[in-house]
Amino acid sequence: MTGPEDTGQGRIRTDIAHNARVWNYWLGGKDNYLIDRQVGDMVTGMYPSIGHVARADRAFLGRVVNHLAGPAGVRQFLDIGTGLPTVDNTHEVAQRVAPASRIVYVDNDPIVLTHARALLTSTPEGRTEYIDADAHRPDDILRAVERTLDLSQPVAVMMLGILNFVLDTDQARSIVRRVMDAVPSGSYLALTHPTLELGGEGNAEAMAFWNENATPPITARTRAEFAGFFEGLDLLEPGIVSCARWRDGGATTVEVAQFGAVGRKR
Ligand SMILES: C[S@@+](CC[C@H](N)C(=O)[O-])C[C@H]1O[C@@H](n2cnc3c(N)ncnc32)[C@H](O)[C@@H]1O
Repeated sequence: MTGPEDTGQGRIRTDIAHNARVWNYWLGGKDNYLIDRQVGDMVTGMYPSIGHVARADRAFLGRVVNHLAGPAGVRQFLDIGTGLPTVDNTHEVAQRVAPASRIVYVDNDPIVLTHARALLTSTPEGRTEYIDADAHRPDDILRAVERTLDLSQPVAVMMLGILNFVLDTDQARSIVRRVMDAVPSGSYLALTHPTLELGGEGNAEAMAFWNENATPPITARTRAEFAGFFEGLDLLEPGIVSCARWRDGGATTVEVAQFGAVGRKR
């Protein structure tokens, strides 16, 4: 982990595409380099719905945080694998509903660190913090989180589009378990994850291309593997679905090849 004096600038590589920046490109953002746009366009050429996946994932984030900060009454959010700031970041959605919400963001990409200030625009009643840390090291994250969150009170743990960068499924499960063990009953886990089981023509080919040309390497998971992350939690309705369909069943909803679900700790 680094302190606030490290802006991440010296660690930024512009010779290889980075996920946070390419994701930003697919979302229509400007915080990316030529290499990110080139690789992003190549992936889109192979897997035309990827831009829709990125937008559906962000829309899922909005619906989930609205529900958790609203009817579910959660006031603390831990957003691991935050991504570059965009419209309606977790703290903006949560604090619009419940201004006293506290949000901790975690990412390990140096460019996200350089833009972290945009994530720290809290309401006066609430609080936001950014932690530059690797999801493979949940103990580091949990130690740092305690500066801002009260781990005796419910926390919404959000890991959207990030466990796919933990290639070993057992390790990914143990990261989720470690974090969920540290939060009390009444806490929530929100996940999205790419899959090859929901269509998404060209997805497998695009992932193989990504793994040869960009960083960090990615993997897809099956419904059974995705369900395993929620072991011991009660899934909220409608369970495990394409993230585009989670509480958005409109006739015009176009399904994407990205699972989304939310579980509650008993
Ligand atoms: C696909 S983006 C998703 C961003 C956001 N959660 C969303 O759903 O729009 C994945 C993010 O996870 C971050 N990430 C990837 N591997 C990570 C790791 N090992 N530790 C922390 N962050 C990581 C990337 O830098 C990127 O910002």
